[in-house]
Amino acid sequence: MRTTTEPAKPPGPSGMPVIGNALESRRALDFLVENRHRYGDVVYYDFLTEPIYQLNHPDDIESVLVTNNEQFTKSHLTKAVLGSVAGDGLFTSDGDLWREQRRRIQPAFHPAQIAVYSDLMVDAIDRRLATWTPGERRNLGEEMRKLTLDIVARALLGVDIESEIEDLGWSLDAVLGRLGSVWYHLLPEWAPTPGNRRFSRALTELESLVDDIIDERRATPDGDDVVSRLLAAELTDDEPMDPDQLRAEVMTFLFAGHETTAQALTFTCYLLATHPDVEAKLVEELERELAGDRPSLATMGNLTYTEQVITEALRLYPPANDIHREPVDDVEIQGYHIPPGATVSTPPWVVHRDPRWYDDPEAFRPERWTAEFRDSLPRLAYFPFGAGPRRCVGERFALMELTLVLACLYQNFHLELDPETRFAVETAVTTRPKHPVWMTVEAR
Ligand code: HEM
Repeated sequence: MRTTTEPAKPPGPSGMPVIGNALESRRALDFLVENRHRYGDVVYYDFLTEPIYQLNHPDDIESVLVTNNEQFTKSHLTKAVLGSVAGDGLFTSDGDLWREQRRRIQPAFHPAQIAVYSDLMVDAIDRRLATWTPGERRNLGEEMRKLTLDIVARALLGVDIESEIEDLGWSLDAVLGRLGSVWYHLLPEWAPTPGNRRFSRALTELESLVDDIIDERRATPDGDDVVSRLLAAELTDDEPMDPDQLRAEVMTFLFAGHETTAQALTFTCYLLATHPDVEAKLVEELERELAGDRPSLATMGNLTYTEQVITEALRLYPPANDIHREPVDDVEIQGYHIPPGATVSTPPWVVHRDPRWYDDPEAFRPERWTAEFRDSLPRLAYFPFGAGPRRCVGERFALMELTLVLACLYQNFHLELDPETRFAVETAVTTRPKHPVWMTVEAR
């Protein structure tokens, strides 16, 4: 029973006893959008027994992620879901451990270093596109996953995993499928369900691959990649890095470095296939600016329409659809008290579809991204890479990769959406297509 001194909760949907609104997770993204529509800028709901405070206004989100970020940590929900795979890696850790690891890793993403990755990316893209034959059908999501895995392994981990890529794709999918399912939260990891058995086999395989990568890099430690930097830190710092910490970082980069970019590319190609006028403008820009040459870091800067296409695709289908934090102490937002340990949800998926900031928000309109339009937006009305000190460390790397893939692909091919593709979106840690997106490859 509420006493008169108990602070009021924000409005929100009433859930079922014990499981709260957990069943809504089957249509989680629509649920979040409806919450804003029905209840406003601060919404309360329960996920199982977890209290969730959903913030929908860019100013409130800015106060959590940026201005008052020191009052929040990563949420225990994020740590529970991702920690079994990524341990205390850069994505899931907090405090001094996070600061120290970010300091060690950040130089691998310095603009000068990113420049070194560009040729390597174009080589990997050429290799993958060389396997495409005009007239054949391809599962776009799988193609993009193999490509982004290849790139992340070569650039960031300093290894060639081409022969392992098929098995690795299976393992990563099994792990993400389990982490993204609501049953993950309901059933203990040891319960002998088919999903759990697949998860544990896949995780063992991934851990053994990661151990092999670390051994290989230890044998040839010179390099600018993330693993070399961490190994060098092991030699020079007073405290050698714990082997579990190193494994957690490699696992973090393997996951964070490929999955989001693969989904972004799949959605962008889907949008281009369903908007032929946008594809035509993109191709016209590539012909004009590149004149048949391979794209490079130097020529990429001229691809302004391509950049608008990517910006708009990341608005409509942000791979990180929701970003969670939890307050260290009681905090007040819009007059509501949020207790320590509660989950604060700041969902790019909802803010990016808010008609207060985006005219006709469901429409794919790259042209909307003029400099004036950007300036007119509240700062956190667009944040596919997060904001504040925990902003994505791989943002520049990802944007360069997206640009180079689109440029190489659309210089050479047109992708025709297979009529059998049923397009729907789901969330399984990241935003992804619910069914395979089949495309027929046509030569340009
Ligand atoms: C389109 C592609 C990508 C998107 C949309 C994306 C999105 C994000 C977001 C929203 C965060 C912040 C999460 C939070 O505040 O809780 C984040 C963090 C992170 N991302 Fe990305 N990311 C992408 C690509 C990459 C790539 C390519 C890498 C690695 C090369 C990467 C590595 C990381 C890491 C390690 C963190 C944790 C950073 C920290 O807490 O210090 N991401 N990403």
